[in-house]
Amino acid sequence: MSNRLFGAGVALLAAALLAGCERPPVDTVQRGYRGTGMELVYNPRIELRVAEANQAPPVTPPADSDAGPKARDIYKNVPLLGHLSVAEFTRVMAAMTEWVSPEQGCNYCHDPAAMGEDSKYTKVVARRMIEMTQHINAGWKPHVAATGVTCYTCHRGKAVPLQVWFKAPPQDKRSDFIGDLAGQNQPMKMVGMSSLTYDPYSLYLLGDQTIGIGASTALPTGHVASILHTEETYGLMMHMSAGLGVNCTYCHNTRNFKSWEGSPPQRTTAWHGIRMARELNNDYLEPLTKTFPANRLGPLGDVAKVNCATCHQGVYKPMYGAPMAKNYPSLLVSAAAKVADGLPPPLAEPTRSVLYFGVGSATLEGEQAKGLTQLIATLGAKPTAKAQISGYHSAAGEKAANEKLAKDRAVNVRDAIVAGGIAPARVVLDKPLQVGANVSGEDPSARRVEVTVK
Ligand code: HEC
Ligand code: HEC
Ligand code: HEC
Ligand code: HEC
Repeated sequence: MSNRLFGAGVALLAAALLAGCERPPVDTVQRGYRGTGMELVYNPRIELRVAEANQAPPVTPPADSDAGPKARDIYKNVPLLGHLSVAEFTRVMAAMTEWVSPEQGCNYCHDPAAMGEDSKYTKVVARRMIEMTQHINAGWKPHVAATGVTCYTCHRGKAVPLQVWFKAPPQDKRSDFIGDLAGQNQPMKMVGMSSLTYDPYSLYLLGDQTIGIGASTALPTGHVASILHTEETYGLMMHMSAGLGVNCTYCHNTRNFKSWEGSPPQRTTAWHGIRMARELNNDYLEPLTKTFPANRLGPLGDVAKVNCATCHQGVYKPMYGAPMAKNYPSLLVSAAAKVADGLPPPLAEPTRSVLYFGVGSATLEGEQAKGLTQLIATLGAKPTAKAQISGYHSAAGEKAANEKLAKDRAVNVRDAIVAGGIAPARVVLDKPLQVGANVSGEDPSARRVEVTVK
């Protein structure tokens, strides 16, 4: 073979191998101390495309919510938004139409002859979506901060959000001799065209498989993370990077991926994001499975679910952090969550509890104390589970006093759990990943203790 032919062959091979890479030139932005490799690489052409897709839609200013009759005085089936004035109610309906079904219009959810009936599944889903949106904004401030979300954050003018996921069907093991692929060895879009495991979402954004893979001690102390487990973690990380359009260094100092001390604060926000996506999938979307018609379900009959890309769509903050939610006050607070003491109801799930405190208080009262009782019962029923407790405070007030208050809250919860008959070794205090609250002012959802049960 002549050298020239060989050269051409090499060039072709190189072109084929590089076809999956991004075409230069690219820009880099330094985000950490020089020499530490804390740089982000951007591709201006991709940025341009993503930027177009991430413009917030125009808003009509809120109507006076106290003026005139209330929606519930006029309409018959408005359990969620009935407290709004008719003018504000109508504005929210018009906005929802723009966000979710601009082409189909009001009739996408309504039977025009009977607006109050729940005859279309889309209306039933929409009502639950309103509750979900309120819950994200009121209950997940550590992730969405004051920016919050509206229907548009996910829907972008489409009835089905562009980025959703379904469970992947298991490998078809016919008579081939390939063995168990363990979901690997096929380039999958969801893990950034790598051939990592193809369904990290079911493991981490529906299930709660542990994400850590690095051992915390130099010598082996029973830490077991298999290669498969490691690849699964990397699969999730590839999705998070692609979903946000950032490199690993947006959240990690690559000197030590595990270390929280060395990580940028965005990693803490991401930590909450993982838990939030998991909760939305388990508590809001999965229970709607039977409500959806079969053509909306995935190959395994499961409902479409959210991941990071559903909201972020390729940018570090959805729509570059445009605070559109603040223009829709009725989507910011959960009407159902408002109890007499102004605190959100305690969260008591098998693996996570959140208990809320009054201003300046480190004692749990009323409903919150009931949440604690439930947590003790959960721990009693799972004799091998451990509870990890972190205390938080609101942004208002003096720093040192606030930090002490956050700690007192955690210590009191620990003492109460131990007093409830749980062995002290099973209850550990954990320094919160984020001490400064992510919100400003006196926010009831910030004055809390979070307990993870593992
Ligand atoms: C994406 C789904 C969706 C779209 C689109 C939508 N609505 Fe609604 N609509 C709802 C839901 C959900 C409720 C119930 C709200 C509640 O539970 O408080 C509702 C309730 C209503 C009611 C109260 C009916 C009654 O008697 O109880 C009226 C009136 C209404 N919508 C008007 C409109 C108009 C006008 C439009 C178009 C500009 C529209 N809606 C578009 C979901 C939708
Ligand atoms: C966190 C992301 C997210 C937010 C926020 C959100 N949705 Fe959804 N929505 C979804 C997902 C995921 C589905 C399931 C997709 C499907 O229909 O198969 C869905 C489905 C729907 C559907 C059914 C559409 C169809 O044709 O099957 C309606 C209607 C809807 N949402 C309305 C709303 C409204 C109204 C809001 C705001 C109050 C809202 N959504 C907020 C993620 C979201
Ligand atoms: C948007 C933020 C974000 C991005 C981008 C990101 N990570 Fe992560 N990473 C996290 C968070 C949060 C955790 C901890 C998750 C948990 O414990 O629930 C984590 C955990 C890890 C771990 C496990 C560390 C341990 O405890 O053993 C590894 C390894 C890792 N990431 C690698 C990567 C790689 C490689 C990339 C780029 C492909 C990446 N990450 C991109 C946020 C991020
Ligand atoms: C329900 C919509 C939604 C989902 C789902 C979601 N996010 Fe976010 N995320 C937001 C919003 C809104 C913000 C902006 C908050 C702010 O302004 O500080 C944000 C902010 C962030 C930030 C902070 C960016 C910065 O520069 O400060 C990170 C990191 C992040 N998200 C990671 C994730 C990861 C990782 C996932 C998936 C596990 C995820 N998000 C899922 C809505 C979402």
